[in-house]
Amino acid sequence: MSPVILNLGCGSKTAAGCVNIDWSLYAVLQRRPALRKAIEPFIGHQRRARLDGMAGDVMAHNLRRGIPFADNSVDAVFHSHMIEHIDREFVEPFFREVARVLRPGGVHRFATPDFGQLGHLYVSSLDALAQRPEASDAELIAHEARIAEMIEQSVRRDAGSAAGQGRARRTIERILVGDARRRGETHQWAWDEFNSRLALRRSGFVGIEKKSMDRSDIPGWAAFGLERDEAGGEYKPGSLYMECRKP
Ligand SMILES: C[S@@+](CC[C@H](N)C(=O)[O-])C[C@H]1O[C@@H](n2cnc3c(N)ncnc32)[C@H](O)[C@@H]1O
Repeated sequence: MSPVILNLGCGSKTAAGCVNIDWSLYAVLQRRPALRKAIEPFIGHQRRARLDGMAGDVMAHNLRRGIPFADNSVDAVFHSHMIEHIDREFVEPFFREVARVLRPGGVHRFATPDFGQLGHLYVSSLDALAQRPEASDAELIAHEARIAEMIEQSVRRDAGSAAGQGRARRTIERILVGDARRRGETHQWAWDEFNSRLALRRSGFVGIEKKSMDRSDIPGWAAFGLERDEAGGEYKPGSLYMECRKP
């Protein structure tokens, strides 16, 4: 029997051979071709391309209601760029829910923006500028971008998909599905190796390790392609990859 591997909060980044789960528009449209056809003219080129690129099926499910699998029934659980969207106090309960469905020895792996790396980049930029009181505007703008990388996703109002859209479409989408916060796009907390270790340890996991892209104890992990883009590069550069096991 092939292993059961969950890809939680998959968005449009899905893999055949995984159970992909999400509550987004992609999950709904991917399962309902008639509905997709009806609203296709309104969803924009980018979203159409993402839908076309989705491999495997997606289960439409709200993970706030738990993971729809029995205790000890799953071999591995992966989630990418999801925990930073969860309120901090709900992350450990979410990890415990992951532990519930994993079989003993099962692997829990996740990717999230690496706040440690962003912090290092910011401090390096700060140190470099301290030596250059005559820094140009371009250099100061580049420095400002380091700050944006750390906090922009927590404070922004406009949804990411609004960029490049006309004003009328932006307004309609905002009325129908809300701003970035209502759509769940904003970051609620930031994670580095060490607060991740603490949250995983408190949730009962063992063998906690920082990993790199594609390197995993999940057999055949790299072949799923969930950490690569279409060109074969890193799907989300700047990611922290953590992995651990249920005892
Ligand atoms: C930033 S996206 C990441 C998508 C994908 N994993 C990736 O790395 O590109 C976060 C995803 O989590 C999903 N998500 C957030 N809360 C969820 C919930 N309660 N139930 C199901 N999916 C959820 C969102 O719909 C979204 O697709």
